[in-house]
Amino acid sequence: MKTIVTTAYRPTEVTKRRAQETAQFLGLQVVERNKRPIYKLHGELAADIIVCKKERLELYPVGQSEPFFFHPNSAAFRSKRPLENDPLIEVSGLVAGDAFLDCTLGMASDALIASLVVGDRGRVVGCESDPVIAHVIREGLKNYQDMPKLHESMRRIQVVTQHAVDYLKALDDDCFDVVYMDPMFTEQIAEASNFAPLRNNADHGQLTEEWVTEAKRVARKSVVLKAHFRSTDFETFGFKRRVRPNTKFHFGVIQMDKSQ
Ligand SMILES: C[S@@+](CC[C@H](N)C(=O)[O-])C[C@H]1O[C@@H](n2cnc3c(N)ncnc32)[C@H](O)[C@@H]1O
Repeated sequence: MKTIVTTAYRPTEVTKRRAQETAQFLGLQVVERNKRPIYKLHGELAADIIVCKKERLELYPVGQSEPFFFHPNSAAFRSKRPLENDPLIEVSGLVAGDAFLDCTLGMASDALIASLVVGDRGRVVGCESDPVIAHVIREGLKNYQDMPKLHESMRRIQVVTQHAVDYLKALDDDCFDVVYMDPMFTEQIAEASNFAPLRNNADHGQLTEEWVTEAKRVARKSVVLKAHFRSTDFETFGFKRRVRPNTKFHFGVIQMDKSQ
């Protein structure tokens, strides 16, 4: 699907400049808004639309009237609970000072929790293969103004626009403590997040033997998979499943124990 860049309904010098910069970064065309509503632009251009506002970038996929934009999402309430009890942190064994690679960044909610845990001595990298999603999230993590307690952790996350397997293949052995993957579920679940408008844009590729082999080569401590509770990927790829009663998704872990 083609994507174009435009400004908010009433453009300013700031939003016009943002639109130019965004289009240049992503190699896309800028289309003047001319006070057209989104549904009209969708009809005229048959393209997904990135709207550059003063405070954030919003993506309107074709046929969607609700935009996708960065928001801490589930990280907002998870960050208020004891982090050592967060299921991702518990299964991964992630601690302060660690390096965390999120192979499937999406909304960056999991990466944000990991970033809170690793702190200023740690490192978080997030791979996102869809360039538009990656850029909306990259800009959001950089500029989000609410929830100041999360700013440092947001700004720490380095967003890489690349397929995770390609990124992993270029890495040295044992260079991250934890490697995490959360591919799109093959079974649809009711989503409370604002990721829902992006279902069609996201990369729906599933876990492969090569992906897991590369993750194991790169991880010192653990490789973690999140998947639908009915997924057989845990067993297929050798993850030890942590059953979470009454939840739609489970975590699985492969312990590497290469840290000493
Ligand atoms: C289920 S979402 C991840 C949600 C994320 N854990 C969060 O907390 O918001 C999966 C995301 O990973 C991306 N993705 C899927 N396969 C990928 C791959 N092989 N490499 C990089 N990104 C991938 C999709 O485009 C989508 O944005």
